[in-house]
Amino acid sequence: MEREALDPFSSLLDGFETRTAAHAQQTGPYADGAAFVRGEFVPAAEASVPLFDLGFLRSDLTYDVPAVWNGRFFRLDDHLARLERSCAKLRITPPMSTPRIRETLIELVRLTQLRDAYVDVIVTRGATPRGQRDVRLATPAIYAFVVPYIWILPLTVHEVGGSAIVTREVRRTPPGAMDPTIKNLQWGDLNRGFFEAFDRGANLPLLPDGDGNITEGCYNIFTVHDHVLRTPGRGVLEGVTRLTAKQIARSEGWEVRTEDVRVSSLYDADEIFLSSTAGGIMPITTLDDQPVGGGQVGPVTRRIWERYWALHADPDLSFAVDYA
Ligand SMILES: Cc1ncc(COP(=O)(O)O)c(C=O)c1O
Repeated sequence: MEREALDPFSSLLDGFETRTAAHAQQTGPYADGAAFVRGEFVPAAEASVPLFDLGFLRSDLTYDVPAVWNGRFFRLDDHLARLERSCAKLRITPPMSTPRIRETLIELVRLTQLRDAYVDVIVTRGATPRGQRDVRLATPAIYAFVVPYIWILPLTVHEVGGSAIVTREVRRTPPGAMDPTIKNLQWGDLNRGFFEAFDRGANLPLLPDGDGNITEGCYNIFTVHDHVLRTPGRGVLEGVTRLTAKQIARSEGWEVRTEDVRVSSLYDADEIFLSSTAGGIMPITTLDDQPVGGGQVGPVTRRIWERYWALHADPDLSFAVDYA
C-alpha cells in the first residue's frame, strides 16, 4: 500500500515498524542500547550501578525521560529544565552542566543509531564517605542510557484504546510525603497499581488520592466532557506530554482545566486519555470493565493523538539528531 494512502494511525505504525526493522540489521556494541556511567560511554548491557550510591540504596534521585522519534529529539530542553527543577527541589547539585548533559544524551543516541529511542537521565545523591550517613556529604552522580523506544500501551492497541482501572487497593503517595512534581523512582504505589490492574484484567492503573480525586499512573490523566478537558492540578508530575496535549487542545479551541478531577467524573466522561513520553497520547476506552463514552476512541482524543505525533517533526519543538 502507498504510504500516502494510509490513515494517521497506520502511517505511524508503518513508519515505526519500518525503522525498527531497519535498526534490527544494525550490529556493533551499542545497537541494543548505550549507557553513560562514571563519565564513560558503555554498551547498555555492560552498565552497572555503584552499590553505595544513595540513588540505589535510598532511591535518593531524580530522573527525566525525553524521547527521540523518527530521528528527532522532542522537547529535549523542556525535559532538561524539569530535571534542573527536580534537582533543585531535592537539593542535589548535578555533577554536569545542563549543556553537557544535553550533549551526552545526543552522543548516546548517536552511538545507538536508534531513530526511535527512550532516553533516560538519572541524577543521584551519590555516595557518602564510607561509614557516614550525613546526606550533605554525598557526592552527586549522573547516569544515562538510551534504548529502543518504549510503549506503556502497545502502539497496536492505540487504535481501539486500552483498558484501565481505578485502583482500590492502593492510592497515590501523598504530595506531602513525596512531591510528585519531582520526577522520582519511588514506584511502590505505581507498581502495586500495575499488579492490581493485571489481576483485574486491565492494562493500566489510575491511582486516586484517597480524598475522592484521581491523580495519575506513570502518565497523566485527561477526561473529556463536552469538549472540556480536565487534568489533575496537584498530586501529579507536570508532564511534558500533558503540556503538549493542553497546547494542542487550546489551539483547537477547546477549554482545558487543570484542577481537581473527581474519581466519579471518570465514569460519565465522553473520553479519557493518558499522556506520557513513553507512549504519547493513550486512549482509554474501557474503565473498570465498562466502556468509556461510546467505547471507541473519541474525536477529541483522536485529534490530539494525530497532532501530537505530527508535532514531532516541528522544528520549534524538535531537532534532528546528527547520526554521523
Ligand atoms: C508519575 C508520572 N506521571 C506522569 C508522567 C508523564 O510525564 P511526561 O509526559 O513528561 O513523560 C510520567 C512519565 O514517566 C510519570 O512517571
